[in-house]
Amino acid sequence: MKEKLLKDPVVKEKKQAPIIEIKNLHKTFGGDNEVLKGINLTVNKGEDLVILGRSGSGKSVTIKCIVGLITPDEGEIKVFDENVLNLKKADLNAIRVKIGFLFQSGALYDSMSVRENLVFTLTKHKRDLSAEEIENEVMEALENVGLGDAIDKMPSELSGGMRKRIGLARTLILKPEIILYDEPTTGLDTITSREISELILEIKHKQKTSSIIITHDMACAKLTADRIMVLKEGVIHAEGTYEELEKDEDEWVRSFFE
Ligand SMILES: Nc1ncnc2c1ncn2[C@@H]1O[C@H](COP(=O)(O)OP(=O)(O)O)[C@@H](O)[C@H]1O
Ligand SMILES: [Mg+2]
Repeated sequence: MKEKLLKDPVVKEKKQAPIIEIKNLHKTFGGDNEVLKGINLTVNKGEDLVILGRSGSGKSVTIKCIVGLITPDEGEIKVFDENVLNLKKADLNAIRVKIGFLFQSGALYDSMSVRENLVFTLTKHKRDLSAEEIENEVMEALENVGLGDAIDKMPSELSGGMRKRIGLARTLILKPEIILYDEPTTGLDTITSREISELILEIKHKQKTSSIIITHDMACAKLTADRIMVLKEGVIHAEGTYEELEKDEDEWVRSFFE
C-alpha cells in the first residue's frame, strides 16, 4: 500500500512541493553590517533542512525573517505558497500560527508552572477552547515530548533538557506544520542532546512537520538532516546530504564534519 502511494505521481509531486522558498534574501544592519547577501533556499514538504555556519553568519537572522521578526531589505519569502513579505497583518498571523519557532534560549515563564506556560501559549492563539479541550491539548503536547509527569512542576525544578522539551511542547501545542529550530541542543550534554535530536526526528514523522534546524551539533545534523546547507559570508556556500558534504571537495566545508 505504501509503495503504491509513493508511485502515484500526484502524491509524489505533493510530497516534494516547496513549503518554504527564500529567494535573494538581503539584510544589512547598522548601515554597513551586511549579513545576508542573497540567500536562496527551499524546504520541501516533509523535509528537515539543517543550516550550518559559523557564529554570527546570519543563520538566526535568516529564520527570523521567515516569521517576520526581522524584515529583510530585499528578497522574497514564500511560505505555504504565500508571499509573506507582502501580506496584511491578519493574513500574516494566520500563517505564523502554522509555524513553530523553538528559540535558542527557549525561555519559559519562570513564575508559571509547566501547565500554565502551555495554557498561556495555547489560549493566546486559540481563544474558544473549553477547559477540557485545553487540558487535553496540554497533556497531548507534554506526552509528545515524554514529559506528561512534569505538568505541575515549575521551570526552576527542571533540568536544561527538560526545559528544552517543555519549550518544544509549547511549540507543538499549536500543531505547527513547520518548525524552525534555533540551536535546539546547544548547552546540553551529549546524551541529552541525542534525546532532543531523536525527538526532532520523531516529531517529523508523527506530526508530519517540515523543519529548518540550525545547529553546530553534528550528531544532531547527522540524525535529523534530509539535506544540509552551509552558510558562509552571507550566501549558501554548499548544499548536500550529510554524506555528500562530509567528503566535499572544499576543506572549509569538510571542517564542520571533523
Ligand atoms: N536585531 C539585530 N540588530 C542588529 N544586528 C543584528 C541583529 N540580529 C543579528 N544581528 C547581527 O547579524 C549578524 C548575524 O547574527 P545571527 O544571525 O544571530 O548569527 P548566527 O549565525 O550565529 O545565528 C551578527 O553580526 C549580529 O550582530
Ligand atoms: Mg544564532
